[in-house]
Amino acid sequence: MKVTVVGAGNVGATCANDISHKRIASQVVLLDIKQGLAEGKALDMMQTSTTLGFDTKIVGTTNDYTKTKNSDVVVITSGIPRKPGMTREELIGINAGIVSSVSENILKYSPNTIIVVVSNPMDTMTYLTFKKTGLNKSRIIGMGGALDSSRFKTYLSMALNKPANDIQGMVIGGHGDTTMIPLTRLATYNGMNISNFLSKNQLEKISADTMVGGATLTRLLGTSAWYAPGASVSFLVDSILNDKKRIIPCSVYLEGEYNQRDICIGVPCIIGRNGVDSIIDIKLNENEQKKFNSSSDAVRKMNKSLQDILKK
Ligand code: NAI
Ligand code: 2OP
Repeated sequence: MKVTVVGAGNVGATCANDISHKRIASQVVLLDIKQGLAEGKALDMMQTSTTLGFDTKIVGTTNDYTKTKNSDVVVITSGIPRKPGMTREELIGINAGIVSSVSENILKYSPNTIIVVVSNPMDTMTYLTFKKTGLNKSRIIGMGGALDSSRFKTYLSMALNKPANDIQGMVIGGHGDTTMIPLTRLATYNGMNISNFLSKNQLEKISADTMVGGATLTRLLGTSAWYAPGASVSFLVDSILNDKKRIIPCSVYLEGEYNQRDICIGVPCIIGRNGVDSIIDIKLNENEQKKFNSSSDAVRKMNKSLQDILKK
């Protein structure tokens, strides 16, 4: 199985590394526009194969899409983070140009691939990729909910002082500080509802910490995070390539599910060899549905500013 990761920066390189270490794919291609960066990182990773005991072939390339030919999955991490003084619209405009040209180049050499979109604003970039490529909606998957859910479960385990792998929980909605929705009502500790172990106040704090999880790390690191984002992409790619059919919250195109249409936003999906196997349309309570509607409004507003930019 072959995976291409576009963008050999922090997130792209980390996810290529994780996919290789875990032997999820037999070949990983890392592509970047920065001369030599992808080649250098790929060679460095290859030189860990004997000590770590994996045989995945890792190839780096400076913008040569012929090397990506016949990829089963392509991960798009190329883009820029927001810089001081830059408006959100400027960021959208630049990343939209990058994501559009990357997906066009990718499909020339891998017409049957599944595309995983990571570049921010992720829900809008996923929507753009869906609209621009015209691919079946099952083949365009935005990664955000896997990361937000892993942050949520980590904060729950820290508050409980219990192993994170004993906790189940999910974050849906947009991948943004004010748009994501940690579903505390459904979170469990070894099958028992989390509210048996944590107070309402504790759960509210965990929810709030989860929502600003990315911003907290950006403040600490001076740029956005990469270990958990890279591992979350690799978790998603594993479910696709190995047909694991895991339930993972992903940003996907909705056609009436959760009372929303013509939008890509995070909802629980079964992810397998064909990409999105199905969307799990669970019944939210009134408060959760209200939050999901506001989250969708905010994502739609972002999509609208993208459309205005594309018209200019
Ligand atoms: P980075 O700046 O470390 O890496 C981005 C890479 O993309 C750079 O190496 C750059 O040369 C490359 N690039 C730019 N234009 C390109 C093009 N046209 N073709 C190929 N490569 C190109 O940034 P980082 O930290 O890796 O983040 C990447 C993106 O992922 C950002 O938009 C960030 O906001 C987003 N992100 C999304 C997350 C999510 O959960 N969806 C989590 C973390 C980051
Ligand atoms: C994150 O959540 C900024 O999307 C990035 O870490």
